[in-house]
Amino acid sequence: MTQEMTNALRYIGKADYSGPSEAPILTPEMPSHKSYSSTPASLILGLETSCDDTSASVVKNGSEILSNIVSSQIDIHAKFGGIVPEIASRKHVELINPVIQEALDVAGIGFSDLDAVAVTNRPGLLGALLTGVSAAKSISAAMEIPIIGVHHLEGHIYANFLINPDWQFPFICLVVSGGHTDLVVVRGHGDYEILGRTRDDAAGEAFDKSARVLGLPYPGGPVIDRLAASGNPKAVHFPRARLDDTLDFSFSGIKTAMIRFFEHKPADMSVEDVAASFQAAVVDMLVNTSLAAVERTGIRRLALAGGVAANSGLQARMREQAEINHIELNYPPPRLCTDNAAMIASAGYYHLINSRMDDLALDTIASQPLR
Ligand code: KG4
Ligand code: ZN
Repeated sequence: MTQEMTNALRYIGKADYSGPSEAPILTPEMPSHKSYSSTPASLILGLETSCDDTSASVVKNGSEILSNIVSSQIDIHAKFGGIVPEIASRKHVELINPVIQEALDVAGIGFSDLDAVAVTNRPGLLGALLTGVSAAKSISAAMEIPIIGVHHLEGHIYANFLINPDWQFPFICLVVSGGHTDLVVVRGHGDYEILGRTRDDAAGEAFDKSARVLGLPYPGGPVIDRLAASGNPKAVHFPRARLDDTLDFSFSGIKTAMIRFFEHKPADMSVEDVAASFQAAVVDMLVNTSLAAVERTGIRRLALAGGVAANSGLQARMREQAEINHIELNYPPPRLCTDNAAMIASAGYYHLINSRMDDLALDTIASQPLR
């Protein structure tokens, strides 16, 4: 029994642990939960460690956030211009237990009050995912509560239920993050059909890489968003890729255009104008393809999800177009668009009430499209 394991046990409520003979051995054979019967109030602990945020949250009944602690590593990774996987894993190991404890403290509950633990187990950086999944398994085994593995993108989609528990199916969701750009029809809980996705870079990646070309810090999305607010979106014409007859996206062209433009940038062109022009082009592509998806499916309910959904230009254009085209629009506030564990707890809750649970054999998966 190492000091780390002893500490882990302390955090899962076994502070009186006194020696190796009591050590719980986590094996896939061990029952991971007591038999679950749906109770009127379900308290779910959500854990999210798939990338560079260590987050834990307690959510009641899928939508009432009692706590949502997000410890960001951005300052550390910003020095390197992007995420360094080894550093991310190490930081998650350091932070996971204090962050869980804080989530419980803020919610005013203890481990024994939890009904289930939901954790992002795919896709993401393997070492990073492992930290959250290991913690979730420990809690599941020690407290005899269900463990539920959640797909990260599914979590982003469920942020919409955190702000609007009455949001109705079916709906189309534009999922735009640092690693993914997907247009999804959500027909029911856990029922997804992919309409289109990016063929190359993700929207967030386009923001981050273009910001880097402009000499702006990582992550580039929020910085470009801020600068764009005081720039002229018509100052530079960036290309808008249209992939005929599909609902797919492509952002590699605009990234290359940004590199070319920057090589010959007029001296008097402000970074605000470039940011505004770039953002307008990305927003055009996202909005036009989303509207095409609405027309093609006849589903007039549209949700936004993922870090890029926090973009003020995207939200404004979507609001405008939703009104013109009589589309019901839903999107979370910025802090629930970017990575957080409340969205994982919410998705976990709906899995739980539909009896979709995992066990201690839950695996981590680096790459898996939503399906
Ligand atoms: O969902 P997220 O937090 O993590 C991933 O799952 O990838 O998304 C991170 C991405 C980054 O690329 C970041 O630049 C982008 O979301 N982002 C934004 C904004 N806030 C975050 N992009 C545009 N505008 C924003 N306001
Ligand atoms: Zn994310």
